[in-house]
Amino acid sequence: MRTIVITGGTDGMGAALARHYLAVGDRVVVIGRDQAKFEALRATAASPANQGATGSTTFDSGAARAEFVAADLSSIADSRRVVEQLRREHESIDALVLAASFIRRHRHLTAEGHEASWVLFFVSKYLLVTGLADRLRAAGRPIVVNTAVPGTRADAIDFDDPGMSRGFSFARANAQQRRANELLGLLATAEDPRLAYVTWGPKGLVRTGFTGEVGPGMKMAAAVLGAIAGKHPDVAVRPIIDLIDAPTPGRAAYRGAKPAPLVGGEHDREDIARLAEMIDRDFR
Ligand SMILES: NC(=O)c1ccc[n+]([C@@H]2O[C@H](COP(=O)([O-])OP(=O)(O)OC[C@H]3O[C@@H](n4cnc5c(N)ncnc54)[C@H](OP(=O)(O)O)[C@@H]3O)[C@@H](O)[C@H]2O)c1
Repeated sequence: MRTIVITGGTDGMGAALARHYLAVGDRVVVIGRDQAKFEALRATAASPANQGATGSTTFDSGAARAEFVAADLSSIADSRRVVEQLRREHESIDALVLAASFIRRHRHLTAEGHEASWVLFFVSKYLLVTGLADRLRAAGRPIVVNTAVPGTRADAIDFDDPGMSRGFSFARANAQQRRANELLGLLATAEDPRLAYVTWGPKGLVRTGFTGEVGPGMKMAAAVLGAIAGKHPDVAVRPIIDLIDAPTPGRAAYRGAKPAPLVGGEHDREDIARLAEMIDRDFR
């Protein structure tokens, strides 16, 4: 039985993946903030496995293979607690899917004093991938699927001020997170050449809740466009399922089922080192 860990597994594409892996018999660890959403997901996981001769139905309760870790991944303390709990409870992790998402158009400081999107969309991912490296290594064919849309400028990171206390914009913050997640892949696969690390974005819109503070205009546009042209999450995640079922060691990037070019920078190695120093400096 594989162990599949999914951040943002209570909703949208993360929940679609959780339902799939529970249905095919894997152990699924869902990380999110909302226990009620998880309980609803778990309730649907108890599917009839066998129809007995007398008409009785036995349940392979997928519910028993579903675990929930409540955490706010825009918090460093929570992110570290999740790593510790997963390390305590799981000797190996076959797939780590990073799909937690809360879109903010504006800069927002957490109670810990950090820029919320920078932590949620990058720093917590860094802590999970590096903190669980040996648990991933212990699996036969480990894979990290990071839902960070691939491809961005190599100079997108402000190493001195990653929380963007000056000149924050949604576009700049988004580009910075995407570049940092590519560097995280370089770091993780350099340390474990057997690891598959995929940065993945859907092709087109997916009909999800678009969790976040995005303003009524964007919310409305996403709802209308999603209803007309958006894919159902169960359909959108099929390429992720294929990637997890047959992981290829090394880095890759995908939009939907289509490989995307890996964007390299002239100074990737130096940038990885600066990123690690920055985490030490800001999040020790
Ligand atoms: N939908 C699209 O069209 C689209 C397009 C491009 C990229 N993407 C990317 O694909 C990924 C999945 O997106 P989605 O649309 O499926 O997401 P979604 O439906 O909005 O769900 C977001 C998930 O993240 C969790 N979450 C939010 N804030 C959190 C926090 N602070 N700590 C822990 N968990 C948190 C939510 O769970 P709780 O409520 O339980 O916390 C929920 O399970 C994201 O990385 C997104 O940026 C999506």
